[in-house]
Amino acid sequence: MASRWYRIPPGFVYDLNADVPSPVAVGHHGRVRIADFALERYFARWEFAVRHLLCASDVEGYPMADLLALADDEARALWDGLRLGYTESTGHPLLRREIASLYEGIEPDDVLVFAGAEEGIFCLANVLLGPGDHAVVTWPGYQSLYEVARAVGAEVTLHELHEADGWALDVDRLRSAIRPDTRLVVVNVPHNPTGMLPGHAEWRALTDLCAERGVHLLSDEVYRFLEFDPADRLEAGADALERGISLGVMSKTFAMAGLRIGWLATRDRALLERLAAFKDYTTICASAPSEILALVGLRAREMVLARSRAIVEANLPLLDAFFASRPETFRWVRPRAGSVAFPRLAVPGADIDAFAADLVAAEGVLLLPGSRFGHPGNHFRIGFGRADLPAALERLADYADLRFG
Ligand SMILES: Cc1ncc(COP(=O)(O)O)c(C=O)c1O
Repeated sequence: MASRWYRIPPGFVYDLNADVPSPVAVGHHGRVRIADFALERYFARWEFAVRHLLCASDVEGYPMADLLALADDEARALWDGLRLGYTESTGHPLLRREIASLYEGIEPDDVLVFAGAEEGIFCLANVLLGPGDHAVVTWPGYQSLYEVARAVGAEVTLHELHEADGWALDVDRLRSAIRPDTRLVVVNVPHNPTGMLPGHAEWRALTDLCAERGVHLLSDEVYRFLEFDPADRLEAGADALERGISLGVMSKTFAMAGLRIGWLATRDRALLERLAAFKDYTTICASAPSEILALVGLRAREMVLARSRAIVEANLPLLDAFFASRPETFRWVRPRAGSVAFPRLAVPGADIDAFAADLVAAEGVLLLPGSRFGHPGNHFRIGFGRADLPAALERLADYADLRFG
């Protein structure tokens, strides 16, 4: 029998919250209107075309064979016996258990697995925000953290970080940005692109503020566990407040971007349910092999993290020396955590976009100009999670000295 419910005019969607679902007009006609993701477009052009990616945000990809060698008996049996069917839409129960163990007060049922952090961001903005809602998002930052919010019709206030403040969050300024219609505050700590990490007191002030105002806090923690001093590790957003949502992923600290496994963790179960329902329209469930490999990686996290930290710790002194010996050419705020920093080309009259274009043509070394974050300063992102940083930095040094030395 033909049903009238299948006849949806273009530009309409069903309001499933109405007693009787009926079509409601939406502001666009069958196309998601969203600005290009400038950073990802840049990577799509360059990432696999250059010799040295000196602006990558992830840690050097973990070799698959090495990872499998870390599997315990149970995980090895899951891998060997894996059937390539659909998986549980919320995520493999053992994987969710392992993810939950990264937090203090999070249960496996507080965790929803996504295809990377990116899908989690997309689903959360769609579920939590719409026209008439307001969000406050730190900036410069990973574009989807504010762009998806805008695309779903929310008004976004960017909480700008400044080099002169050491890129620090300003909780008082953030407080004054919160309005009665604010539904979501978004922060990314440790921060991409600056490597900023708030102190514990500042973080507590921010999480208390969100709790007081009843606002959800999306805490993008994809670089968590890469604090240069482990004592600086912040309480996870999901632990800090009931409406805190921690975003995690295997890509960065855990060095396994190719798995495309990420997650949202929150004690707000009603929100998690809505997220699960929305995910039915994006990926439904995660990749079966990736879930098992992520399980292996998280169970062996001490080894995985030790490798990531060793790469970062070997690279940082090289950056220190590089910047210390070129104070007229570059300035940087030394990061406190993560695998990226946001230095500035300080030569009067020099332009970072032109310099980066010349550098990649001459040396095959890629930097990420601040313009890709929509940032007007002469800053650029540099990544120090890759094993080829020494060679890449040498080429950058030679080229910069030739140009500006
Ligand atoms: C702060 C931040 N959040 C989220 C993501 C998305 O992570 P993924 O590519 O693993 O989905 C990135 C990736 O660069 C990021 O830097």
